[in-house]
Amino acid sequence: MKAIFLTAAMALTAASSLAQAEDRITVSVDATAPGAKIDRRIFGQFAEHLGSGIYEGIWVGKDSAIPNTRGIRNDVVAALKAIKVPVVRWPGGCFADEYHWRRGIGPERKPSMNANWGGVIEPNTFGTDEFFDFASQVGAEAYVSVNVGSAPVSEAAEWLEYMTASTGDAIGAERAKNGHTDPYKVAFVGLGNESWDCGGGMTPDFYVSQMKMHARFDRNYNPAQPMQRVAVGPNGGDTAYTEAVMKAYQGRSWAWGIEGLSLHAYTTGGGFPISQKATGFGEKEYSVILKDTLGMENLIATHSAIMDKYDPEKKVSLVVDEWGAWYAPTPGTDPGFLMQQNTQRDAVLAALNINIFARHADRVRMANIAQMINVLQAMILTDKEKMLLTPTYHVFEMYVPFQDATFIPVKLDAGVYSYGDISLPRVDAIAAKGTDGKLYVSLTNVDPNKPVEIDTAFLGVKVKSVTGETLSAPKMDSANTFDAPNIVAPKAATVRLKDGKAVVQLAPASVTVLAITL
Ligand code: AHR
Repeated sequence: MKAIFLTAAMALTAASSLAQAEDRITVSVDATAPGAKIDRRIFGQFAEHLGSGIYEGIWVGKDSAIPNTRGIRNDVVAALKAIKVPVVRWPGGCFADEYHWRRGIGPERKPSMNANWGGVIEPNTFGTDEFFDFASQVGAEAYVSVNVGSAPVSEAAEWLEYMTASTGDAIGAERAKNGHTDPYKVAFVGLGNESWDCGGGMTPDFYVSQMKMHARFDRNYNPAQPMQRVAVGPNGGDTAYTEAVMKAYQGRSWAWGIEGLSLHAYTTGGGFPISQKATGFGEKEYSVILKDTLGMENLIATHSAIMDKYDPEKKVSLVVDEWGAWYAPTPGTDPGFLMQQNTQRDAVLAALNINIFARHADRVRMANIAQMINVLQAMILTDKEKMLLTPTYHVFEMYVPFQDATFIPVKLDAGVYSYGDISLPRVDAIAAKGTDGKLYVSLTNVDPNKPVEIDTAFLGVKVKSVTGETLSAPKMDSANTFDAPNIVAPKAATVRLKDGKAVVQLAPASVTVLAITL
C-alpha cells in the first residue's frame, strides 16, 4: 500500500513539473547580433474620407463646441501625439481615385458625392490645407495618395505643384493665397490605390504604364523634403502586380523611379463579404481571426522574395499601407461607414502584425493601419464630444519605444495554442534596442485561457533593472465603451530579475512590453 502511495505521489510530482514546464517558456534575447532599424513608419496610420473617420473624427469645424484648433479636435490630436504617429496616409483608399483636390481648397468648397462610402455628400471642407494642418499638429509626416484612376496625370502633377512649389510658381502662389506661403513637406506620394480593383480595375501592364507617367510627372518641388513614390502593389497573396511593377523598376530609365511598393492585406477570417463579428465572438472566432492574421508573415515573405529578385539591394520598401481587422459593421450603423468595435483580440492581432513587420525591418519600412479613427481597426472612437482609446491604441502606445529601435533577435520555443483543428504559436516575442539605449522586449500570450510564465534571458548585456507594462482584459472580446472607456488599459507588469533573467507572468490573451536598463 505504501509503495502504491509513493508511486502515486511521484506521478503527481512528475505531472505538476510537466505542467510547470508547459506553462513556463524561456525567451533568449541575443544582444550580440543586432539587426535592421525598425522604421518608426511601421506605426503609420491611414485616414480616409469614409464614414466619420475625417468628419467628426478629426474635423469638427472652427465653430464647434468641441475644443478644436482651426477646426481640428484637440482631444484627438493629443491622443495621436502621445503615440507619436509617424505618418498619415490620406485621402484614401478607394476615395483617392475619385478625389479632385481643387474642390477642397480655397474659401469656397465644392461638395461632391462619396460614391464609395455610403453615397453621402462630401463637403470637401477638410482638404489639402486642413490635412497638412492636422499632420503638423500631430507631428506626423504626410503620405498623399493621388488620383490615378479617374483623372489625367496633369491633375495629380498640379496637386503636387500646389503642395510643394514655391510662390514664384502660379499654383504655389495659390497655396500662399490660401494661407500657407511655405511649401508643404510631402514625404510620400501614393501613385494610385488598389488599381487592380476600386482604383480602376487595371491589368498589371496597364497600371505600370500609368505608374511610370505619375512617377515621372508627380514632382516634388520642395528641396527641404525628399519625397518617396509608392506604387500600387499586391492585393494579398496575388503576385501579378509585384512581378510587373518590380520588373519595370529593374528596367527603369533615368526619367522615373519608385521608392515603395504597397501591399494591402486585411484580416477578415473568411474573406468578403465580411462575416466575422467585432464583439460577442467565441474562442472559435478568436482562433480563426488570429490564424488569418498570422498569414501576414507568408505574404511578406512571398512578396519580399519577388522584390529581392528585381531589387536585391532592397532599395524599394514594401509598404503595408492598409492592414488590420475588417469585421461586420456595428449593428445600427451605416454599413458603408465601416464602423466596428475594437477588443482585446484586436490588441493581440495588432501586436502580432507589428512583430511580423519588425522581423522584416530590412524590407518593410512603412505600414499604415486601417484606419486611424472610427473606421475598421481604429485607434480612436468618437461620439460627438466623447472620445475613447481602443485596445489597439494601447498597443501602439506601448510599442512607442520600438520606433526607430534596432531589431535584436530572440529565440524561444513558443509552445502551441490549439482550438479545434487550429494550432498557433502560443507566445510571440520581439526585442529591440531603443534610441534611448534601453532594451525592449514585447511578449504576447496568444492563448486566451491560460497564463504563461516567461523567463527572458539576455546574451551579451548585463541587466541593471527591468520594468514592464501589460495589456490584458477580463474577456477576449472586452472593449472600451463611451460609458466605460478604461475596461482595457495598460497597467504596470509584475516583473522581477532572477539570476539575470526577467521573469514575468503573461495573462491570457495579453500583450506585455518590458523595458530593460543596461
Ligand atoms: O480601408 C477601406 C478600403 O479598403 C479602402 O478604401 C480600400 O483601399 C480598401 O479596399
